[in-house]
Amino acid sequence: MKKFKAGIIGTGYIGPAHLEALRRIGNVEVVAVAEVNQEIADAKAEALCIPKGYGDYHDMLADDSIDVIHNCTPNFMHYKVNCEILEAGKHVISEKPLATTAEESEKLVKLAEEKGLVNAVNFNYRYYPLVQQAASMVKSGELGNVFAVQGCYMQDWLLYDTDWSWRLDPKMAGESRAMGYIGSHWFDLIQFVTGKRITEVFADLLTLHEYRKKPKVEIETFSGKELTPDQYEKVKINTEGYGHVLVRFDDGTKGMTCISHISAGRKNHIVFEIEGTEKAIWWDQERPNELVTGNRNSPNQNMFKDSVLMNDEVKDYAHYPAGHHEGYPTCVKNFCRNVYRHIEDRSRPVDFATFADGHNADVIVEAVIRSHKSQKWESI
Ligand SMILES: NC(=O)c1ccc[n+]([C@@H]2O[C@H](COP(=O)([O-])OP(=O)(O)OC[C@H]3O[C@@H](n4cnc5c(N)ncnc54)[C@H](O)[C@@H]3O)[C@@H](O)[C@H]2O)c1
Repeated sequence: MKKFKAGIIGTGYIGPAHLEALRRIGNVEVVAVAEVNQEIADAKAEALCIPKGYGDYHDMLADDSIDVIHNCTPNFMHYKVNCEILEAGKHVISEKPLATTAEESEKLVKLAEEKGLVNAVNFNYRYYPLVQQAASMVKSGELGNVFAVQGCYMQDWLLYDTDWSWRLDPKMAGESRAMGYIGSHWFDLIQFVTGKRITEVFADLLTLHEYRKKPKVEIETFSGKELTPDQYEKVKINTEGYGHVLVRFDDGTKGMTCISHISAGRKNHIVFEIEGTEKAIWWDQERPNELVTGNRNSPNQNMFKDSVLMNDEVKDYAHYPAGHHEGYPTCVKNFCRNVYRHIEDRSRPVDFATFADGHNADVIVEAVIRSHKSQKWESI
């Protein structure tokens, strides 16, 4: 197995998740991290046991020892940093959304093609063992003809007007919030599992708080830190925190989803249900080791993750025996494994989300925003 050297730009929440995944796959050494300044870079490198910290990510781009760079920065930096990584001749693994506009993500697809470099987007939910099993079951025809899908992606961490994140600032997150940040995951996931493409959307969106209280000091995402009232400023909010979307697929299949950052008690509730003429299946990310098959004339089946019982083509997405839970870290590990396998052997199939998939999600999100404004079906 070839060994690779990687660098990670951005070490907030998701950067360390990439690091853990890379350490689990084993043949990738993370030799450097990059952060906003040298002090933070050194502190993060020390805390994460990484040899080098760059206070300016451009110095990482110039580091000839590095083969692959993971872009784990906030959304508004994705386009610029991804372009620079490709121009530096390195393979790139980007966080989602790929860019803050579809125009930019289209340019990234073209640039990656021109450079002939491996490009990937971390739509990690695809890589849960039982999501792979679900996709395999749909593909094999076990469900009959799939005619409808439904599901949602709901969280609650932006429910209160005192909740703040850079994701509320369109300059940092883009013109869409809930749809771009988590809706993009659901759209990618449902297209992956069904093997169908979304062609039209009809959306109805909500901004719950017209104004929010923004802290005057920086806070890290999901840190749970509480600030006193004199530390806030009142900020007008222009992006959606909640939305319903009807979708149509290329073969006429119907779908609907609800995307929310503001649903009390929902932590990371990403679910889908697929209706077939013979059977249905449903899966819930908060119970990721169970996949239910709905039967019409016999009792429903609840499959627990067990590589012995999973379809041959997807067995290697489960790493521990039946009864041993595997969750979020495993799907990021499987994503990284697939990408690095392809970097090692470019003749292998591309079994991960690429920049083209990232661009597709950006196009869908823009159509959702357009549809909310026009109150009409909008084409992808
Ligand atoms: N795939 C997933 O499940 C998933 C989950 C969470 C976040 N994300 C995505 O990952 C990205 C980062 O999200 P996060 O939650 O980790 O955010 P975060 O705010 O916790 O971390 C972002 C990090 O980037 C650093 N950064 C900012 N500017 C930089 C610069 N110029 N050079 C180097 N570092 C810089 C920040 O200091 C911070 O450490 C977002 O685009 C988000 O959409 C994906």
